[in-house]
Amino acid sequence: MLKMAKKSFNRYTVTSALPYANGPVHIGHLAGVYVPADIYVRYLRSKGKDVAFICGSDEHGVAITLKARKEGITPQQVVDKYHEQIKKSFKDFGISFDIYHRTSSKTHHETAADFFKKLYDDGKFVEQSSKQFFDPIEKQFLADRYIKGTCPTCSFPEAYGDQCENCGSTLSPGELINPKSMLSGAEPTMEETKHWYFPLDQYEEWLKEWILKEHKEWKPNVYGQCKSWIDNGLKPRPMTRDLDWGISVPLKDAKGKVLYVWFDAPIGYISATKDWAKETGKNWEDYWKKEDTRLIHFIGKDNIVFHCIIFPALLQAEGSYILPDNVPANEFLNLESNKISTSRNWAVWLHEYLEEFPDKQDTLRYVLTANAPETKDNDFTWKDFQARNNSELLAIFGNFINRAVVLTHKYFDGLVPSLGELTPEDQSTIDALSAFPEKIGGSLDQFKFREAVNHLMDLARLGNKYLADTEPWKLIKTDPERVRTIMNIAIQISGNLAVLSEPFLPHTAQKLFKTIPVNGVKWEDAGSSDLVNSGAALGEQQYLFERIEDEQIEAQVEKLTDTRAKNMETDSQKVTPIKEEMKFDDFMKMDLRVGEVKAAEKVEKSDKLIKLTVDTGVDTRIIVSGIAKHFSAEEMVGKKVTVLANLAPRKIMGIESQGMLLFAENPDGSLKTVNPDPGAENGATIA
Ligand code: MF3
Ligand code: ZN
Repeated sequence: MLKMAKKSFNRYTVTSALPYANGPVHIGHLAGVYVPADIYVRYLRSKGKDVAFICGSDEHGVAITLKARKEGITPQQVVDKYHEQIKKSFKDFGISFDIYHRTSSKTHHETAADFFKKLYDDGKFVEQSSKQFFDPIEKQFLADRYIKGTCPTCSFPEAYGDQCENCGSTLSPGELINPKSMLSGAEPTMEETKHWYFPLDQYEEWLKEWILKEHKEWKPNVYGQCKSWIDNGLKPRPMTRDLDWGISVPLKDAKGKVLYVWFDAPIGYISATKDWAKETGKNWEDYWKKEDTRLIHFIGKDNIVFHCIIFPALLQAEGSYILPDNVPANEFLNLESNKISTSRNWAVWLHEYLEEFPDKQDTLRYVLTANAPETKDNDFTWKDFQARNNSELLAIFGNFINRAVVLTHKYFDGLVPSLGELTPEDQSTIDALSAFPEKIGGSLDQFKFREAVNHLMDLARLGNKYLADTEPWKLIKTDPERVRTIMNIAIQISGNLAVLSEPFLPHTAQKLFKTIPVNGVKWEDAGSSDLVNSGAALGEQQYLFERIEDEQIEAQVEKLTDTRAKNMETDSQKVTPIKEEMKFDDFMKMDLRVGEVKAAEKVEKSDKLIKLTVDTGVDTRIIVSGIAKHFSAEEMVGKKVTVLANLAPRKIMGIESQGMLLFAENPDGSLKTVNPDPGAENGATIA
């Protein structure tokens, strides 16, 4: 295919992942998806672009029914409760959706069902019966999430049928040891059921072309994940489920079946656009079907396959839609070195944050942007939060504006003085100022939000430096004319900060606009040293940021420490019970030895396995162990280990593993090596 000239776009459809309405939203959501999306959209609007910023609650799927079971209420009650709460949190943080929709809406049910029906009528699905897990007592097919058992990788006893939350491995229920239905506790049986599969394998070539060739500009983390999915080969995926919550499959022979939540949810973007367009008198199709519309999905990394592979393939199959032009997915944000976890309450909930730090939305927005998990997972710490507030927002940004405004009030009664003759220093400051809109915008165009917000802070730094170098407070006695020019320039920088900070710090920008009488608020107005007219009256000086004290931070850290203690208590109640009694002879069959790891490397294409070269005292052999989530290959080298030496060899990912290493597993799932005393030599028998 001929590479065409860069497309030019006249319209933007920007979506951000529809959060499951099964719990409140936390800082991880904001950092990963909603703050970057909002910054981007505000920037586009500031540039005068036509944008639809779309979001809503994802209200179907097993995530919702599980929560309902847990709380003893109906799925509808679950989604009603959290939809409102989530919507409010987003509003409070200034996430400026054009519509916050929900997938339980009538429009959505119709849109998703029609979409399915069209694909069905066009013969895009493959009908297939297969044996699925079934609860013989409840007489229901079981979603993967409804089956629990022991993880084959890490032996965690509470792994779900789709994923082990302990070691993170992706599972299918068939792999679980000792599977149990979570509905009745019964052992599931296998029963025949029919589903409609979307043959993703048939789109492989097309996806290769479209992503791997035509979208090389996607972020490396996104492109890399897509490539690995495609390289591993795509399989047909069922687009229907046996579940009693969701959108009914619009076919006659599909009683009791609903659309797969990952089929309907992304279509939620389209439904939301329809209702938004209806309210605002626009044509929704312009935003989804015109080639000059740029579709961008903001998501977290766990959503990449759905937004980059499955949904685009569905859109392509349907035939009348545009495809996403970019999917700037972020990695994950950790909290104080641990994975954010809703079930373990290891999170900073947005509604709680606002109770404890009222009116400090922008501080959190800033910290989450400056420290965004853009290219790798990142850590949020309260110390860093405090430091960024106190020594960046307050000391650099707030301090500069404050000086500019206070001094202008003091020397010139708050009337912006006019510019006199320029010194080279003034000129170079004005020149530097003029470059900022493009600098910041250039970073935003590339979805580099951390870089963009750093540029913004550099503008405040420029202002501080200018005042520090020119020292108007000294000159006011000797050269008041010169001070007029200096304060004019300082106010111009302040006005520019107001305009350019708006996408990042919208609440702060609103305050600034009240103080600094800019004559334009759009991106194209910025960069100018004539943004504030001389003679215009400044508004009152306002405090933009406040110092955050040690005690406030300590209180937050303490809260997390309490959570950790509570979790450890529950974990310790989860100590694995003692196994069935055994005979001494059975034990003596095991040949346990002291060994030492001589070399170790990660097994390619596996995120769990490490290949170890182990000296058993008798021989040197290869042992493959599923420990990569807990240890790096490097740190294993040189460790003394306990080896089960007479275990029959078996092939793991093509490598023959000769024996097994023993590990101690804590109730929280973490693994520790079982180290013999240093005096125990390699080859020593253990009994
Ligand atoms: N609810 C999903 C999650 O939280 C995201 C759905 S995004 C959509 O992971 F596109 F499907 F809506
Ligand atoms: Zn596991």
